[in-house]
Amino acid sequence: MNLQGKTLVVTGASSGIGSEVARLARFHGARVIGMDRNDPMVSLAGFVRVDMADPASIDAAIDALPSRIDALVNCAGVSGMADPDLVARINYLGLRHLTEALAANLKGGAVVNIASILGAEWPKRLDAHKALAATAGFAEGAAWLKAHPVPQETCYQYFKEALIVWTKTRGYELFMQHDIRMNSVAPGPVMTPILGEFVQMLGEERVASDAARIKRPAIPDEIAPPVVFLCSDAARWVVGINLPVDGGIDAMYV
Ligand SMILES: NC(=O)c1ccc[n+]([C@@H]2O[C@H](COP(=O)([O-])OP(=O)(O)OC[C@H]3O[C@@H](n4cnc5c(N)ncnc54)[C@H](O)[C@@H]3O)[C@@H](O)[C@H]2O)c1
Repeated sequence: MNLQGKTLVVTGASSGIGSEVARLARFHGARVIGMDRNDPMVSLAGFVRVDMADPASIDAAIDALPSRIDALVNCAGVSGMADPDLVARINYLGLRHLTEALAANLKGGAVVNIASILGAEWPKRLDAHKALAATAGFAEGAAWLKAHPVPQETCYQYFKEALIVWTKTRGYELFMQHDIRMNSVAPGPVMTPILGEFVQMLGEERVASDAARIKRPAIPDEIAPPVVFLCSDAARWVVGINLPVDGGIDAMYV
């Protein structure tokens, strides 16, 4: 994976998977700019503080980014223990706002969205996810969600499903119109600071049953390499896919 001379922007770069993606991309020669609400803990070529829940904060952050970006990794996210409105704003609407706003800077480049194995049931709600994907921007998406509220218990899963569907529908258009490759990566459980919240969110029973069927949770450096690959020219013909990186969980359901 040669990222020499490339500029990568990584949201959520201050912890967990995003931090590891930033470290690995830098190792492969990229100039990495992190975006997060918290200070970074790895060396970066640049850092821009942002609240991904707030379009005004995102717009201000964009002003501090270079005009030419080779890849954007949308990694910032919260668990379903947060308020559903906040989950929608951070995990979907804000991510989408940032990506659309950077489309001109990303021409010929790549976008990788961090989804989740918990978004695997997207085909069950395809029509709703396509309707949300078709909304024009942050405000219109928020209005659609007001008319179609998502319950707390399933909001994390819902917005990861929605992200996978948007990655495909918008990913196709972005490739055809702007030569931008957008894909998603769907990790299973990963040992990061947020993991405890996922355990709370899913409940002890579900977690015990899942744990009995998988080898172990991933560590972040098992998720970062496929993400970095999708950012690289080696993936130049990979468009609109959702890549499970989960130690076989997705395969288990077949
Ligand atoms: N850890 C897992 O088990 C797991 C599994 C599947 C998918 N994911 C997804 O991976 C992504 C990264 O999660 P992680 O496990 O590395 O968690 P993490 O908590 O270690 O990292 C999340 C990062 O996002 C940042 N962030 C959160 N809200 C923000 C906001 N409003 N504005 C700016 N930055 C914000 C945090 O500050 C943090 O640095 C998330 O999208 C998560 O849903 C995680």
